[in-house]
Amino acid sequence: MMTRGLATAMWTAILLLIAIVLVFAGMRVADDLPLVVSGVPAELGSFGERYVANPWLAYPHIVPGVLYLVGAPLQLSRRFRTRHFAFHRRFGRVLIVLGITSGVFALVFGVPFAFGGAWQSLAAAVFGSWFLVALLLAFRAIRRRDVRMHRRWMIRAFAVGLGVGTIRIWVGLFALLDLASLRDSFAPAFWLGLSMHVLAAEAWLWWRPNANGRPRRSVLP
Ligand code: HEM
Repeated sequence: MMTRGLATAMWTAILLLIAIVLVFAGMRVADDLPLVVSGVPAELGSFGERYVANPWLAYPHIVPGVLYLVGAPLQLSRRFRTRHFAFHRRFGRVLIVLGITSGVFALVFGVPFAFGGAWQSLAAAVFGSWFLVALLLAFRAIRRRDVRMHRRWMIRAFAVGLGVGTIRIWVGLFALLDLASLRDSFAPAFWLGLSMHVLAAEAWLWWRPNANGRPRRSVLP
Protein backbone atom coordinates (compact mmCIF):
# COMPACT_ATOMS: atom_id res chain seq x y z
CA MET A 1 0.00 0.00 0.00
CA MET A 2 2.77 2.38 0.99
CA THR A 3 4.64 1.35 -2.12
CA ARG A 4 1.68 2.16 -4.36
CA GLY A 5 1.32 5.61 -2.73
CA LEU A 6 4.99 6.26 -3.27
CA ALA A 7 4.78 5.18 -6.90
CA THR A 8 1.84 7.55 -7.47
CA ALA A 9 3.74 10.41 -5.84
CA MET A 10 6.80 9.66 -7.95
CA TRP A 11 4.91 9.54 -11.25
CA THR A 12 3.05 12.74 -10.33
CA ALA A 13 6.38 14.48 -9.66
CA ILE A 14 7.81 13.16 -12.93
CA LEU A 15 4.84 14.41 -14.97
CA LEU A 16 4.90 17.77 -13.20
CA LEU A 17 8.60 18.26 -13.93
CA ILE A 18 8.09 17.28 -17.57
CA ALA A 19 5.23 19.80 -17.78
CA ILE A 20 7.51 22.52 -16.38
CA VAL A 21 10.17 21.72 -19.01
CA LEU A 22 7.52 21.77 -21.77
CA VAL A 23 6.27 25.18 -20.64
CA PHE A 24 9.78 26.68 -20.66
CA ALA A 25 10.68 25.05 -23.99
CA GLY A 26 7.44 26.47 -25.43
CA MET A 27 8.24 29.93 -24.08
CA ARG A 28 11.72 29.69 -25.59
CA VAL A 29 10.33 28.87 -29.03
CA ALA A 30 7.67 31.59 -28.78
CA ASP A 31 10.33 34.19 -27.89
CA ASP A 32 13.06 33.07 -30.28
CA LEU A 33 11.25 31.94 -33.41
CA PRO A 34 9.94 35.34 -34.62
CA LEU A 35 13.39 36.89 -34.13
CA VAL A 36 15.28 34.01 -35.78
CA VAL A 37 12.90 33.98 -38.75
CA SER A 38 13.02 37.75 -39.24
CA GLY A 39 16.79 37.92 -38.60
CA VAL A 40 16.37 40.46 -35.80
CA PRO A 41 18.82 39.94 -32.89
CA ALA A 42 17.44 39.66 -29.35
CA GLU A 43 18.02 42.47 -26.88
CA LEU A 44 21.68 42.69 -25.84
CA GLY A 45 22.31 40.93 -22.51
CA SER A 46 18.81 39.38 -22.43
CA PHE A 47 18.35 35.71 -21.57
CA GLY A 48 17.25 34.92 -25.12
CA GLU A 49 20.17 36.61 -26.84
CA ARG A 50 22.32 33.42 -26.98
CA TYR A 51 19.44 31.31 -28.28
CA VAL A 52 18.58 33.73 -31.08
CA ALA A 53 22.25 34.17 -32.01
CA ASN A 54 22.98 30.39 -32.00
CA PRO A 55 19.78 28.55 -32.94
CA TRP A 56 21.78 25.77 -34.67
CA LEU A 57 23.46 24.96 -31.38
CA ALA A 58 20.59 25.64 -28.97
CA TYR A 59 17.73 23.86 -30.74
CA PRO A 60 19.54 20.55 -31.40
CA HIS A 61 19.76 20.51 -27.59
CA ILE A 62 16.19 21.57 -26.80
CA VAL A 63 14.12 19.71 -29.42
CA PRO A 64 15.63 16.20 -29.04
CA GLY A 65 15.78 16.77 -25.26
CA VAL A 66 12.06 17.48 -25.07
CA LEU A 67 11.25 14.44 -27.23
CA TYR A 68 13.52 12.25 -25.07
CA LEU A 69 11.95 13.52 -21.86
CA VAL A 70 8.40 12.99 -23.11
CA GLY A 71 9.14 9.51 -24.48
CA ALA A 72 11.28 8.10 -21.67
CA PRO A 73 8.50 7.59 -19.06
CA LEU A 74 6.84 5.06 -21.38
CA GLN A 75 10.09 3.10 -21.47
CA LEU A 76 10.49 3.24 -17.71
CA SER A 77 6.93 2.10 -16.96
CA ARG A 78 7.23 -1.63 -16.18
CA ARG A 79 3.63 -2.28 -17.10
CA PHE A 80 4.00 -0.68 -20.55
CA ARG A 81 7.39 -2.32 -21.14
CA THR A 82 6.21 -5.84 -20.43
CA ARG A 83 3.07 -5.44 -22.52
CA HIS A 84 4.81 -3.87 -25.54
CA PHE A 85 8.29 -5.28 -25.50
CA ALA A 86 8.91 -5.06 -29.28
CA PHE A 87 7.91 -1.40 -29.19
CA HIS A 88 10.18 -0.83 -26.17
CA ARG A 89 13.18 -2.09 -28.15
CA ARG A 90 12.49 -0.03 -31.27
CA PHE A 91 11.45 3.14 -29.46
CA GLY A 92 14.42 2.75 -27.12
CA ARG A 93 16.87 3.08 -30.03
CA VAL A 94 15.15 6.31 -31.13
CA LEU A 95 15.22 7.73 -27.60
CA ILE A 96 18.90 6.92 -27.10
CA VAL A 97 19.77 8.82 -30.28
CA LEU A 98 17.59 11.77 -29.16
CA GLY A 99 19.11 11.75 -25.67
CA ILE A 100 22.68 11.57 -26.93
CA THR A 101 22.06 14.38 -29.44
CA SER A 102 20.57 16.58 -26.71
CA GLY A 103 23.42 15.71 -24.33
CA VAL A 104 26.14 16.49 -26.88
CA PHE A 105 24.54 19.87 -27.62
CA ALA A 106 24.11 20.52 -23.88
CA LEU A 107 27.93 20.53 -23.87
CA VAL A 108 28.37 22.34 -27.19
CA PHE A 109 25.85 25.10 -26.37
CA GLY A 110 25.48 24.98 -22.60
CA VAL A 111 29.16 25.09 -21.65
CA PRO A 112 30.42 28.07 -23.70
CA PHE A 113 27.16 30.06 -23.65
CA ALA A 114 26.04 29.61 -20.02
CA PHE A 115 23.84 32.52 -18.87
CA GLY A 116 25.07 32.17 -15.29
CA GLY A 117 28.82 32.15 -16.00
CA ALA A 118 31.67 29.77 -15.19
CA TRP A 119 30.04 27.80 -12.35
CA GLN A 120 27.05 27.07 -14.54
CA SER A 121 29.38 26.01 -17.38
CA LEU A 122 31.07 23.61 -14.99
CA ALA A 123 27.72 22.16 -13.87
CA ALA A 124 26.69 21.73 -17.52
CA ALA A 125 29.99 19.95 -18.25
CA VAL A 126 29.79 17.65 -15.20
CA PHE A 127 26.11 16.69 -15.40
CA GLY A 128 25.97 16.76 -19.20
CA SER A 129 28.84 14.26 -19.29
CA TRP A 130 27.16 12.12 -16.62
CA PHE A 131 23.95 12.11 -18.70
CA LEU A 132 25.88 10.98 -21.80
CA VAL A 133 27.91 8.35 -19.94
CA ALA A 134 24.72 6.95 -18.40
CA LEU A 135 23.00 6.67 -21.79
CA LEU A 136 26.03 5.05 -23.42
CA LEU A 137 26.50 2.54 -20.58
CA ALA A 138 22.77 1.74 -20.65
CA PHE A 139 23.08 0.98 -24.36
CA ARG A 140 26.22 -1.11 -23.86
CA ALA A 141 24.56 -3.07 -21.06
CA ILE A 142 21.55 -4.05 -23.15
CA ARG A 143 23.78 -5.06 -26.09
CA ARG A 144 25.33 -7.47 -23.58
CA ARG A 145 21.85 -8.60 -22.46
CA ASP A 146 22.50 -7.20 -18.98
CA VAL A 147 18.98 -5.99 -18.21
CA ARG A 148 19.80 -5.10 -14.60
CA MET A 149 22.54 -2.63 -15.52
CA HIS A 150 20.55 -1.35 -18.51
CA ARG A 151 17.72 -0.36 -16.15
CA ARG A 152 20.09 1.21 -13.64
CA TRP A 153 21.89 3.42 -16.18
CA MET A 154 18.64 4.41 -17.90
CA ILE A 155 17.19 5.56 -14.57
CA ARG A 156 20.37 7.59 -13.90
CA ALA A 157 20.17 9.27 -17.31
CA PHE A 158 16.47 10.05 -16.99
CA ALA A 159 16.98 11.50 -13.50
CA VAL A 160 19.46 14.05 -14.88
CA GLY A 161 17.21 14.98 -17.83
CA LEU A 162 14.29 15.48 -15.45
CA GLY A 163 16.51 17.70 -13.31
CA VAL A 164 16.06 20.41 -15.94
CA GLY A 165 12.55 20.98 -14.49
CA THR A 166 13.90 21.19 -10.93
CA ILE A 167 16.46 23.80 -12.03
CA ARG A 168 13.54 25.98 -13.04
CA ILE A 169 11.89 25.50 -9.63
CA TRP A 170 15.12 26.64 -7.94
CA VAL A 171 15.39 29.67 -10.23
CA GLY A 172 11.77 30.50 -9.29
CA LEU A 173 12.51 30.10 -5.57
CA PHE A 174 15.57 32.36 -5.75
CA ALA A 175 13.41 35.01 -7.44
CA LEU A 176 10.51 34.55 -5.02
CA LEU A 177 12.73 34.88 -1.96
CA ASP A 178 14.66 37.69 -3.62
CA LEU A 179 17.93 35.85 -2.99
CA ALA A 180 19.62 36.51 -6.33
CA SER A 181 19.16 38.11 -9.74
CA LEU A 182 18.04 35.84 -12.58
CA ARG A 183 21.63 35.61 -13.84
CA ASP A 184 23.12 34.87 -10.41
CA SER A 185 20.51 32.23 -9.64
CA PHE A 186 21.39 30.04 -12.62
CA ALA A 187 24.65 28.46 -11.41
CA PRO A 188 23.35 27.50 -7.92
CA ALA A 189 20.07 26.32 -9.47
CA PHE A 190 21.99 24.01 -11.85
CA TRP A 191 24.13 22.53 -9.06
CA LEU A 192 21.24 22.14 -6.61
CA GLY A 193 18.70 20.85 -9.13
CA LEU A 194 20.92 18.35 -10.88
CA SER A 195 22.79 17.01 -7.85
CA MET A 196 19.43 16.45 -6.10
CA HIS A 197 18.35 14.32 -9.04
CA VAL A 198 21.58 12.34 -9.19
CA LEU A 199 21.25 11.58 -5.46
CA ALA A 200 17.56 10.74 -5.75
CA ALA A 201 18.35 8.26 -8.55
CA GLU A 202 21.06 6.61 -6.43
CA ALA A 203 18.66 6.36 -3.47
CA TRP A 204 15.99 4.84 -5.70
CA LEU A 205 18.47 2.34 -7.15
CA TRP A 206 19.68 1.41 -3.69
CA TRP A 207 16.12 0.77 -2.61
CA ARG A 208 15.13 -1.04 -5.80
CA PRO A 209 18.38 -2.50 -7.08
CA ASN A 210 17.21 -5.24 -9.43
CA ALA A 211 15.72 -5.57 -12.88
CA ASN A 212 12.29 -6.48 -11.45
CA GLY A 213 12.20 -3.06 -9.75
CA ARG A 214 10.97 -4.54 -6.43
CA PRO A 215 12.04 -2.90 -3.16
CA ARG A 216 14.69 -4.44 -0.90
CA ARG A 217 13.02 -6.83 1.54
CA SER A 218 14.96 -5.48 4.50
CA VAL A 219 13.49 -1.97 4.32
CA LEU A 220 9.89 -3.03 3.84
CA PRO A 221 7.66 -2.57 6.92
C1 HEM B 1 17.14 15.66 -21.70
C2 HEM B 1 16.28 16.58 -21.46
C3 HEM B 1 16.55 18.06 -21.55
C4 HEM B 1 15.65 18.99 -21.95
C5 HEM B 1 14.22 18.73 -22.37
C6 HEM B 1 16.29 20.27 -21.89
C7 HEM B 1 15.67 21.47 -22.20
C8 HEM B 1 16.27 22.69 -22.19
C9 HEM B 1 15.62 23.95 -22.46
C10 HEM B 1 14.13 24.09 -22.79
C11 HEM B 1 16.52 24.92 -22.35
C12 HEM B 1 16.25 26.42 -22.53
C13 HEM B 1 16.17 27.03 -21.14
C14 HEM B 1 15.06 28.05 -20.99
O1 HEM B 1 14.72 28.79 -21.90
O2 HEM B 1 14.51 28.11 -19.88
C15 HEM B 1 17.78 24.31 -22.02
C16 HEM B 1 18.96 24.97 -21.83
C17 HEM B 1 20.09 24.39 -21.30
N1 HEM B 1 20.26 23.06 -20.97
FE1 HEM B 1 18.95 21.60 -21.25
N2 HEM B 1 17.57 20.11 -21.46
C18 HEM B 1 17.77 18.76 -21.23
C19 HEM B 1 18.91 18.17 -20.73
C20 HEM B 1 20.03 18.86 -20.32
C21 HEM B 1 21.16 18.27 -19.68
C22 HEM B 1 21.33 16.80 -19.34
C23 HEM B 1 22.04 19.28 -19.46
C24 HEM B 1 23.38 19.18 -18.79
C25 HEM B 1 23.52 19.42 -17.55
C26 HEM B 1 21.46 20.50 -19.96
C27 HEM B 1 22.05 21.74 -19.93
C28 HEM B 1 21.51 22.90 -20.42
C29 HEM B 1 22.19 24.16 -20.41
C30 HEM B 1 23.57 24.43 -19.83
C31 HEM B 1 21.31 25.09 -20.97
C32 HEM B 1 21.56 26.59 -21.19
C33 HEM B 1 21.01 27.38 -20.03
C34 HEM B 1 21.31 28.84 -20.27
O3 HEM B 1 20.53 29.47 -21.00
O4 HEM B 1 22.32 29.29 -19.76
N3 HEM B 1 20.22 20.21 -20.46
N4 HEM B 1 17.59 22.96 -21.92
